[in-house]
Amino acid sequence: MKLALKPLSVIVLLSVVMLSCRGQQTDKPPIRHHFNMNFQERFNAQQENPFFEDGMAMRMPVEGTVARGNLRHDVALFEGVGEDGDYIDDIPVDVTRDFLYRGKDRYDIYCQVCHGGTGDGQGVIMTGGYGYVPAPTFHSESSRNMPAGEFYSAITEGIRTMPSYATQIGVEDRWAIVAYIRALQRSQNVPEAEMERYDLDLAELQRIFDEEQVRAEALAAARAVRGDDEVSVERGERLYIQNACQACHSLDGRDLVGPTFLGLYGSEREFTDGTTAVADEDYIIESIVEPGALIVEGYDNVMVPYTHLSESELQSLVEFIRSLSDE
Ligand code: HEC
Ligand code: HEC
Repeated sequence: MKLALKPLSVIVLLSVVMLSCRGQQTDKPPIRHHFNMNFQERFNAQQENPFFEDGMAMRMPVEGTVARGNLRHDVALFEGVGEDGDYIDDIPVDVTRDFLYRGKDRYDIYCQVCHGGTGDGQGVIMTGGYGYVPAPTFHSESSRNMPAGEFYSAITEGIRTMPSYATQIGVEDRWAIVAYIRALQRSQNVPEAEMERYDLDLAELQRIFDEEQVRAEALAAARAVRGDDEVSVERGERLYIQNACQACHSLDGRDLVGPTFLGLYGSEREFTDGTTAVADEDYIIESIVEPGALIVEGYDNVMVPYTHLSESELQSLVEFIRSLSDE
């Protein structure tokens, strides 16, 4: 067969061979005829930039800048406060049946483990002995008087040692939870006269309640028997950690949420009601099991009663606190 290549085919073939595979690599940048804007001076995040007075390349947004979709001018809705800056009493969202159920759903996911299914502060985290700061009950007088906005703020900002849940729970859901907590509060605090409107056997309810009390007491007694009777500074120190007292009481004189234990024993205490007392054994035990009775001047009434501690546990805590004073 005669090989007959037309001149044009030869040129095409040759150019393909010569231009496509040049047979070697290069580290040099590709040849560009025009740079467009491919090469410009720029700064990495956190880098220095002498152009600005503060030397920072990253700039703060101009004051008053609002990210798209974040114009939160409704402070009642977003912060739970009124024009005067005080917490609002009313929930600034329409409370419907569905909304309440949504609140229950979210409450059961996010709050129940600590604050308990009925809001009594006896969630599994609290009763399991994990040494967490006790969650307060929502059925105290002070909790019932707490404005709705303060509950909202506790979820949004956290409160004392409780962290914020803002990243997990959206604004509407926070209000739904607040509405549900209100429902829980009502459920546990119905005046007797109002109860009569409902078709309930109060005597039967009382009987069930009494039975539960007896069971709870038996359980506490059993626990007290099981726990050993040792009273010692070491045991007190362990209890101090296990019960998360250290979240609020330091041992080195630092002021946390509560007063330091350093030098507490034997010192004179001043209370918000104007009275004073010397911190002896009785006073310290009372402060632990009934912290609301006397409030130390300069502090808030936020300590939860530690009623589950046995006699020897309380004594050990006293010994531990005593060991932190010179006397
Ligand atoms: C991991 C446990 C835990 C979870 C979960 C939790 N809390 Fe708390 N909460 C606490 C503790 C502990 C305190 C007490 C903090 C303190 O006094 O330092 C507290 C305090 C509060 C208070 C203040 C009560 C008062 O009387 O001062 C409110 C209100 C509250 N929580 C609401 C909520 C809501 C609503 C949720 C669910 C979104 C929630 N908490 C989830 C542990 C928890
Ligand atoms: C959530 C924070 C918190 C936790 C947790 C806590 N306390 Fe307190 N405690 C306080 C605050 C606030 C006060 C001061 C206000 C008052 O008198 O109730 C206080 C007061 C006291 C006092 C009286 C102190 C004084 O200066 O006169 C004693 C004693 C005490 N607590 C012991 C304990 C022990 C023991 C534990 C752990 C089993 C504990 N507390 C856990 C917040 C807390």
